[in-house]
Amino acid sequence: MTLSKQAPLGIDPRIPWHSVLRCLSCRTGLRVVREELVCEVCAATYPIDRGIARFVPEDNYGNGFGYQWNRHRLTQLDSFSGVPVSHERVMKASGWTAEELRGKNLLECGSGAGRFTEVLCETGAVVTSFDISSAVHANAASNGRFPNLRLLQASIYDLPFDEESFDFLFCFGVIQHTPDVEGAFKTMFRYLRPGGSFCIDVYAAPIAYLHPRHLLRPLTKRIDPSRLYAIVEKTAPKLLPLSMALSAVPGVGPCLARLVPVANHRHLNLRNKKIIREWSVLDTFDWLAPRYERPQTRQRLQRWTEELGLREVSIERHRGVHVIRGIK
Ligand SMILES: C[S@@+](CC[C@H](N)C(=O)[O-])C[C@H]1O[C@@H](n2cnc3c(N)ncnc32)[C@H](O)[C@@H]1O
Repeated sequence: MTLSKQAPLGIDPRIPWHSVLRCLSCRTGLRVVREELVCEVCAATYPIDRGIARFVPEDNYGNGFGYQWNRHRLTQLDSFSGVPVSHERVMKASGWTAEELRGKNLLECGSGAGRFTEVLCETGAVVTSFDISSAVHANAASNGRFPNLRLLQASIYDLPFDEESFDFLFCFGVIQHTPDVEGAFKTMFRYLRPGGSFCIDVYAAPIAYLHPRHLLRPLTKRIDPSRLYAIVEKTAPKLLPLSMALSAVPGVGPCLARLVPVANHRHLNLRNKKIIREWSVLDTFDWLAPRYERPQTRQRLQRWTEELGLREVSIERHRGVHVIRGIK
């Protein structure tokens, strides 16, 4: 598929995709009226901010993520890092191929800065992607070149789509950061059509609880994002060499490195020191800032998939996360 560089993104009266959006109150259609979407029946309105419709209050529990992803708009994008880390993660975890995704409707939940949005758009799927935070603007700035991207700011708990309207469902790194993980997991499936495929990941309990961030988070999650970021930006680069040295110890290295509360991506073979430092600052902040973090056990995930009647389910653990995939 050829992707045009000047493609319009988001809600624009010149492109018709806003016709798939529904009013959150009465589920009927929406019209674009100047800088708003207006419900044709109950007159509810939703602002359009820099070309992106917003279905949540601007101020919400995802503010820290909005701050983080706008500070690090490019850091984790493969097109910026030059290393296909995100591509390999999506394709390996999901087992999907570009051929089967091309032209299909895919819903990406909680897209952050869009490292996986980029990979999904490159397959030629029609990607509808949302996040509760202002990270959608970072995603738009990086991935707005894709004409097959539909981007909005919304919450997983209350989405403006018809049920069963997507062929694929994708969600990485999100549901453990929601206030009701079971509710988030189950709600997403309403939008997947019967027979559609899904791939979701979630931090794995109990292993994820053995991490030093859990000692610090009760304090750090209360600090204003810009202040916490300034602290992390100063300390993470100082702690990183020690963490790197410990992780190089044969056998026990990865366990030893956990004693130092700094994100260390030694396993990713990133290109240069600057990029390694950027990833470290970003992910150390990402550990410490979220309002919610609730890793889940395999048994609990298994039970939820059974309660939803999902088929061909596999749950595999990979580096501290459970990857759940299957068919609705
Ligand atoms: C750790 S980030 C992961 C972002 C992206 N999926 C990635 O892996 O790079 C978690 C994201 O989930 C979003 N999020 C949390 N709760 C959400 C909700 N209820 N609805 C939509 N997005 C949510 C946050 O704003 C944040 O961008």
